[in-house]
Amino acid sequence: MRIGFFGKGGAGKTTTAAGFIRYLMTKTSYVLAIDADVNIHLKDALQINNFAGQQYDLGEKASEITSYLMGKRTDLAGRPLISSTPPSLNSNFIRVAKEDPFIVSSGLHTNGLSLLTVGTYQQEDVGASCYHSKLGVLAMVFHHLLDGEQDYVVADTNAGTDNVATSLAFVYDMNVFVVEPTEKSIKVYQDFIRLSEKLNGKTFVIANKVDGDLDRQFVEKFVDKEKLLGLIPYSKHLKEFEQGNRGALSSFAMQQYDVFDTVLEVWKKQIRNWEAYLATLQTVHKKNSLEWYDAYYGTSLSDNLDPNFKYQNVLAKDVSTVKELVRN
Ligand SMILES: Nc1ncnc2c1ncn2[C@@H]1O[C@H](COP(=O)(O)OP(=O)(O)O)[C@@H](O)[C@H]1O
Ligand SMILES: [Mg+2]
Repeated sequence: MRIGFFGKGGAGKTTTAAGFIRYLMTKTSYVLAIDADVNIHLKDALQINNFAGQQYDLGEKASEITSYLMGKRTDLAGRPLISSTPPSLNSNFIRVAKEDPFIVSSGLHTNGLSLLTVGTYQQEDVGASCYHSKLGVLAMVFHHLLDGEQDYVVADTNAGTDNVATSLAFVYDMNVFVVEPTEKSIKVYQDFIRLSEKLNGKTFVIANKVDGDLDRQFVEKFVDKEKLLGLIPYSKHLKEFEQGNRGALSSFAMQQYDVFDTVLEVWKKQIRNWEAYLATLQTVHKKNSLEWYDAYYGTSLSDNLDPNFKYQNVLAKDVSTVKELVRN
């Protein structure tokens, strides 16, 4: 299961994603966290001091990651693997497990949590034309990630509408917009659901920094009741924490937890349809290839890809078999 936190800068995405990750760590044995925000802050917001591992940005290792995921596939016949290329039965895949070779080497680790970081990037890196962009690498990772319903993947993302045309737009089973009770903040959510109608069913809202009834009424005016997962109060504990009172963070966490119970409950209902996921990926890949890459590479990138590939074929195998598959 994958969840992405979205919203206008400053609304509280990172604070909320970090709180949710810590909450999940009390509920489950392993969480995979991904920092995909323009400004990388998730690690700090998590307030975990004993991370082990070598931190590097996925974006810096684009070519290594690409060739790892490529595995032993032959269907590309020399054509490049780009961010939207659907996998093949001969691809390497990634499991949500701390022993997974990709996760071992790419992330920071602590008991019950691994953290992957995409890296800082410029807004102009974002877009369909730029497959080597850092977010392109992230999209590629998601398309090779075999997460099941017992796996928890949480991403702190960039603002809402940047990726609607790319294959990163649909990777999450649930999109959560963190909005402040302001017009500008709510507009980012409104733009997103207007531009990506197909994602409306799995897109929800948390109102953050809600200070009293007027704020609540303001949010309720713009966000449908069934979309609003809950309200997190404007908390003086956070400022106390930022002023050096370490204990204040747990008081704030208590204020978030009621909402997180609802988030988890709704998230668990968003069952992924892998066939639909692959079909969408194929459609986006075809479209992007026709619009950009075929001309650039002088070949068709979307034709004659592995016709036998179905996610179900690789998902059915247990973790050890998939490790075998990864190794071979
Ligand atoms: N519920 C809240 N109450 C008070 N301050 C908050 C709350 N949520 C976030 N903040 C503060 O707002 C600022 C921006 O939060 P951040 O999570 O970094 O936003 P984003 O990731 O969306 O840019 C931070 O200083 C954070 O401490
Ligand atoms: Mg942030």
